[in-house]
Amino acid sequence: MDNKKLLDNMNEQYNFELESAYIYKAMAHWCEINDWNGYANFLYKQEEEEIEHADKFKDYLLEVGYDVKLKAIGEPKSDYKDLEEIFKAALEHEKVVTSRIRKLFDEAREIGDYASEDLLSWYITEQVEEEASFEAIITRLERIDGSISGLYIFDGEMAQRQ
Ligand SMILES: [Fe+2]
Ligand SMILES: [Fe+2]
Repeated sequence: MDNKKLLDNMNEQYNFELESAYIYKAMAHWCEINDWNGYANFLYKQEEEEIEHADKFKDYLLEVGYDVKLKAIGEPKSDYKDLEEIFKAALEHEKVVTSRIRKLFDEAREIGDYASEDLLSWYITEQVEEEASFEAIITRLERIDGSISGLYIFDGEMAQRQ
């Protein structure tokens, strides 16, 4: 089984998970700058989660003897109009991640790399959760419809994410 190309692509995904962390960190900064500390907390926790996703790839790649490599990360977007724009951008980003993971999964299956397929199936399930979580936030923000008191109540809830 020649899985060199697949492992290269998983190393790309390792870097993409780190890029995701960076994007969420920039979103969290916007929230803090605009005094929405609860939403900022949620996004900082999301940033941490992306680093965990990255490390899961990194640990696996090292375990199979692959020489992991870090790449340059581009400057993340920092100018947002409002919270709704942020969480919609987050959902779109997660959809990109999902399609990348599916591609990797297909690739692993095609070449019969069962170990990689097993690891990637964890990410397939995780992405369902990621998309659902951002979708729920967007629904809530759409119902709040810009009401400041509504946004404050939700901010308090978002502050609770551990
Ligand atoms: Fe992720
Ligand atoms: Fe994610």
